[in-house]
Amino acid sequence: MNASAKIPSVVSDDTVRYHEVRAAMPALAAELSAEDLAAQAMTDASPGKWHLAHSSWFFEAMILASEPGYQPVDPRLQQVFNSYYDSLGRRVERSERGLMTRPSLEDIGAYRAEIDRRMGARLAKGLGDGLGRYLFTLGLHHEQQHQELFLMDLLNLMSRSPLDPSAYKLEPRPGGALQTPRGGRSRFEGGLVEIGHKGAGFAFDNEGPRHRVWLEPFLLDHDLVTNGQWLAFMADGGYRRPELWLADGWATARAEGWDAPLYWRFDDGVWTVLGLVGRAPVEADAPVRHVSGYEADAYACWAGRRLPTEAEWESAAATAPDVFSNLTGEVWQHTSSAYSPYPGFRPTEGTASEYNGKFMANQRVLRGGSFATPPGHARVTYRNFFYPQQRWAFMGLRLASDAPAGSPARIEKIETAKFRAELVAGLSRSRKTLSPKWFYDAEGSRLFEDITRLPEYYPTRQEAALLRDMAPGLTRSFGENAVLVEFGSGASEKTRILIDAAPSLKAYVPIDISPDALTAAAASIARAYPAMEVAPMVGDFLNLAPLPELGRGRRVGFFPGSTIGNLEPDQAIAFLANARERLGPSSLFILGVDLVKDPALLVAAYDDAQGVTAAFNLNVLVRANRELAADFDLEGFSHLAVWNAGKSRMEMHLRAARAMTVRIDDTAIAFEAGETIHTESSRKFTRATLTDMAEAAGWHVAAFETSPEPSVALALLSG
Ligand SMILES: C[S@@+](CC[C@H](N)C(=O)[O-])C[C@H]1O[C@@H](n2cnc3c(N)ncnc32)[C@H](O)[C@@H]1O
Repeated sequence: MNASAKIPSVVSDDTVRYHEVRAAMPALAAELSAEDLAAQAMTDASPGKWHLAHSSWFFEAMILASEPGYQPVDPRLQQVFNSYYDSLGRRVERSERGLMTRPSLEDIGAYRAEIDRRMGARLAKGLGDGLGRYLFTLGLHHEQQHQELFLMDLLNLMSRSPLDPSAYKLEPRPGGALQTPRGGRSRFEGGLVEIGHKGAGFAFDNEGPRHRVWLEPFLLDHDLVTNGQWLAFMADGGYRRPELWLADGWATARAEGWDAPLYWRFDDGVWTVLGLVGRAPVEADAPVRHVSGYEADAYACWAGRRLPTEAEWESAAATAPDVFSNLTGEVWQHTSSAYSPYPGFRPTEGTASEYNGKFMANQRVLRGGSFATPPGHARVTYRNFFYPQQRWAFMGLRLASDAPAGSPARIEKIETAKFRAELVAGLSRSRKTLSPKWFYDAEGSRLFEDITRLPEYYPTRQEAALLRDMAPGLTRSFGENAVLVEFGSGASEKTRILIDAAPSLKAYVPIDISPDALTAAAASIARAYPAMEVAPMVGDFLNLAPLPELGRGRRVGFFPGSTIGNLEPDQAIAFLANARERLGPSSLFILGVDLVKDPALLVAAYDDAQGVTAAFNLNVLVRANRELAADFDLEGFSHLAVWNAGKSRMEMHLRAARAMTVRIDDTAIAFEAGETIHTESSRKFTRATLTDMAEAAGWHVAAFETSPEPSVALALLSG
């Protein structure tokens, strides 16, 4: 088929995107016969021909038809290719879609081409930013959903033939390559988390509004359940033991005669499975596909586990995407959550209101994405949904369980997995890098405190003295019952200066990535100030969880130590903007920065005579050796501190003395002699560069004071 219109020579981004998305389904159809595209496998599925036409009809019905005086390409097609939009009049029943031998495949190709031509003209006029743009993007995502449905339905059709036909020579995998398993599971502490879509970028109406959910601590497996594990379930009578099944699931399994996943068959003593490339023996290591929600639930029960809720899945996937294999790109993952509206859900206005909302009964949510999901289609907030008895979709499962009380803190385990992922990714770059946040294990936090007492390291002394001078003025603007929220609180030493000057502080929320430093500091502050509530949060301040509700007073952010200088300029703005939103209306923010000065002073501060900063820098390799079983030769690396005038920042590096290979798990990283790992940048500011940064994040600089030489500054920001 040649269904796509020719791309005009001068095209907008919308036009390019439209043609890119529209080209995919005809490409999937190209290898198939007219008969393959005409037949309907079952009521849940549609013929390929119908998908090609319906996805074109969608653009006509939702976008083109809204133009005054619009003449349809063929008014009769409105009824033939309407799927389920009751507000658009009569339609052909779903079960009858395979009976429509007319229009022919060729006529459908012509219909597609005509819609592409009309859409091209419509896009040339421009879409604007309102509902029109939303419906256009919805049309593209709808088309992508049908690309996946096309493949699901085709496989089901192939399964109806005893000939075990292969639809394709190679499995189409728009969703990307299968990832190797990671092993293990992570503990998530849960608590008050947010899920759902918010902000920029497209999402379906059912993904919002973003809202808060309370989660008890839970465990989520890093990997999907495999065929081999499923075979063990079958061998243990999984399909014959009613005690493992939900009542409706057991009734369905009996009625349907289920004894294995869909498309499996026992051939000459071997389990085989039909896929888009034909029938083959079941591969034990591959993730299981085509199991219903009922089967997934029975399997989880057999394994002594459970399915995750959709909030658990989303919160874990958003917090620590790197610790999981095949989060997307292999199978949609069953959850135990009913598909129902989020609090405050409103369907899209107009005809598209029928898109999602009216299906919110008796179905369950699946998360992730499959190998057949086109790139750019799914998101971490995406809610796919099917009835619990359906199994022709590309669906599988990842297990969860309640976290046992008193087991070690989640953050250590997830942080270790993240550390490994970031270290391998950072060292695989042409310029090797590692985020400074990995400095702060217990030893790193201790060494940092030693640095703050070095004669060459002026920032802590200068900042503390400046804070002492400014504290009475700063705290006067806090008001009654304020809540102090400190980012990267470390030992919380400077915090005491503020707390002493603000006796009416209601609560203190220290946030730090290092659990050891945080726990000790929070306990010590709580002992020293018994009237004030202390609510520590272990976590990454670049990925802030909602703050606890601690009264009605103003929230005051505190970010001293020039830690902001460790962030890339864009990251720093995003952090400040996010903090402003989290802190809420009428909040304040006290920001400490180091100022541009003589490079000799700067280099001395980052390369002290006693070698404490060098030990601090090298400790990240010690940590990698201990936590990740890496084999860095500690004698083979040395500390390097340099002033980068172009970027106005001090840089710390670890330099390899000679060519060598380092192993981190299974990954080998080669170093050339003299090559460095860039471990930290400490940007130095002027009043002007600080003001630009704060204003770009929506803050106003209400006060700015500098210390005597070597100078640092404190700024008071207001929202
Ligand atoms: C330079 S120290 C500053 C400590 C203290 N605020 C001060 O001014 O002395 C940076 C602190 O931020 C923490 N930290 C670094 N990156 C972080 C991140 N992404 N999320 C949370 N804490 C982080 C470290 O664990 C460390 O305690």
